[in-house]
Amino acid sequence: MKVEAEAYTLLLASILLLISGVRVHAISYDHSVTTECLVEPQRAQYEGGIIVNPGFDQSLRGWTVNGKGVIEVRISKEGNRFVVARNRTHPLDSFSQRIQLEKGKRYAFSAWVQLGEETGTVSVVIRTNRSELVRGGHVIAQHGCWTLLKGGIVANFSSSVEILFESQNTEVELWVDSVSLQPFTKSQWRSHQDCNIERIRKSKVRFQIVHTNGTALEGTTVLINQIRSGFPFGCSINHNILTSKDYQTWFASRFQYTTFTNEMKWYSTEIKQGEENYSIADAMLEFTKQHNIAVRGHNIFWDNPKEQPQWVKSLSSEELQKAAEKRLNSVVSRYKGQLIAWDVVNENLHFSFFEDKLGQNASAEYYSKAYKLDQKPIMFMNEYNAIEYSGDKAVIPEKYKKKLEGILSYPGSEGISVGIGLQGHFVSGQPNLAFMRSVLDSLATTKLPIWLTEVSVDKGPNQEEYLEEILREAYAHPAVEGIITFSGPAIAGFKDMHLVDENFRNTPVGDVVDKLLNEWKSGSVQAKTDSRGFVDVSLFHGDYDVTVTHPVTKSSTTLNHSVKKHTPQKIVRVHV
Ligand SMILES: *[C@@H]1O[C@H](CO)[C@@H](O)[C@H](O)[C@H]1NC(C)=O
Ligand SMILES: *[C@@H]1O[C@H](CO)[C@@H](O)[C@H](O)[C@H]1NC(C)=O
Ligand SMILES: *[C@@H]1O[C@H](CO)[C@@H](O)[C@H](O)[C@H]1NC(C)=O
Ligand SMILES: *[C@@H]1O[C@H](CO)[C@@H](O)[C@H](O)[C@H]1NC(C)=O
Ligand SMILES: *[C@@H]1O[C@H](CO)[C@@H](O)[C@H](O)[C@H]1NC(C)=O
Ligand SMILES: *[C@@H]1O[C@H](CO)[C@@H](O)[C@H](O)[C@H]1NC(C)=O
Repeated sequence: MKVEAEAYTLLLASILLLISGVRVHAISYDHSVTTECLVEPQRAQYEGGIIVNPGFDQSLRGWTVNGKGVIEVRISKEGNRFVVARNRTHPLDSFSQRIQLEKGKRYAFSAWVQLGEETGTVSVVIRTNRSELVRGGHVIAQHGCWTLLKGGIVANFSSSVEILFESQNTEVELWVDSVSLQPFTKSQWRSHQDCNIERIRKSKVRFQIVHTNGTALEGTTVLINQIRSGFPFGCSINHNILTSKDYQTWFASRFQYTTFTNEMKWYSTEIKQGEENYSIADAMLEFTKQHNIAVRGHNIFWDNPKEQPQWVKSLSSEELQKAAEKRLNSVVSRYKGQLIAWDVVNENLHFSFFEDKLGQNASAEYYSKAYKLDQKPIMFMNEYNAIEYSGDKAVIPEKYKKKLEGILSYPGSEGISVGIGLQGHFVSGQPNLAFMRSVLDSLATTKLPIWLTEVSVDKGPNQEEYLEEILREAYAHPAVEGIITFSGPAIAGFKDMHLVDENFRNTPVGDVVDKLLNEWKSGSVQAKTDSRGFVDVSLFHGDYDVTVTHPVTKSSTTLNHSVKKHTPQKIVRVHV
């Protein structure tokens, strides 16, 4: 999959803010990413931001050598200047620039990189004055053309730090150009999210109310009431829901999307070989059907060797192949047509249990087979650390895309719908939203649906604040099509996040989820028509009922209306 250059909405157009009479020039975040490898690098984003001499046009001004290598500026045939580190002996031997970070700011990073030979991962690294190394983003760089490395950091302290580069292969030269680090305040970041939400999650709708004889009716009351959200923002459930009426009521009154945490997994449904028991998963599915709740299937297989049914661990390759085939046929056929998604081979970037025993195409083959049995669900990959931890190179966007490419191009998989699952299990510290956004930007070039599938934040002093930041970041990204949190009531036993306590009273984290559920729907909107019979409203995507009451006769009419993404605005005419 050679993904084309992505050019969606260059939001570079600057926003002019009027603050105390002075026009302040605020730069909006640039989502643009290209996965093309270019002969010449593009100019630095944001003209380099706070980086001094970002394009090396003033030789090495602002830059110093890091480690034992030699650094120099070279000029391409076309006359472009860039920096080179050679005679490297350590992965961090490169060039560095000292910059000042300010606590609370989010920093968007980008640079164009190339290797003197071969192909390899290049990372941007931030070194604090205590010599702590924080990775800010990774890309697979090539030789012979320039690749865009995007990333970022969120400063949880004010300090002077060094920004430098890392490449494991010390045999090769490291080339860099057009380096950029653009700071955003917390409120700029938030206002960018809010703008995006308005743009991507809502549509402007115009209703016109006319008398049956064709006359527009002025002063007519129109009541618009959202009955279903168009954006899947759900929550996991587990088997405890079967035995608690309170859990059921609490859940069904909030959520319309879910994932069963463990109950569909192989180790739950076939504890002893040959003795399948789906009674719990079946009962949970029955509950979701009764309440019109959509379910993501989780999961058919899990590539982690530790997460197999006990008896599976000791099977020979041939036995495993037979048992796995049976498992796949059994669970996919059983729930055919009833699920919106399947996590087919969970965590197949971090682990390779099936690939190791059955061959490198094992995952791709299972995606293909699952698709042949049931064409309804989107077939997902599902990984941790991709957005939550910038230090994990196993799940960098290029590796994710390469695995997807193998699944999409596997013989017999033509027409398969594939999705990008990002678990989103965050630890208790400040989440790196700038890194998270750069990863989403990069994965968005696939044009495949991205879901956050298991969002949680470990317990800590700012748990609810961090959860809110993460959820907003996901909801504001144009490529994200759904979010499921892995949490529930205290009685369900989720260890990190409870939304309600033992008495079903909201925890602070539960307040955040309820607040966002409420904020991301239009609720009830009441308006009166103007002289042309028009009512103009901006509505969140979803299903509505619209009640129109005649100004004189008081007779009313109700109709259903869906507001969908990508549907052009047209006038909804209501005759009364
Ligand atoms: C800042 O974040 C880093 C990495 O996330 C962490 O190791 C460090 O302890 C944090 N420092 C403060 C002062 O919170
Ligand atoms: C870095 O050094 C400055 C003084 O040079 C100090 O005030 C600051 O606390 C240090 N930051 C960290 C994270 O150690
Ligand atoms: C249509 O009906 C309304 C209400 O009865 C009336 O006020 C209006 O004049 C009528 N218009 C036409 C074109 O007949
Ligand atoms: C299947 O599992 C359920 C729930 O654990 C249990 O009650 C039932 O006895 C099991 N059925 C069989 C045949 O083992
Ligand atoms: C894996 O699948 C590809 C086709 O997608 C094929 O060319 C290759 O030979 C397969 N490899 C193995 C080890 O089966
Ligand atoms: C509108 O939708 C509601 C809820 O989905 C449904 O009960 C009702 O019958 C629909 N009404 C019309 C007029 O289609």
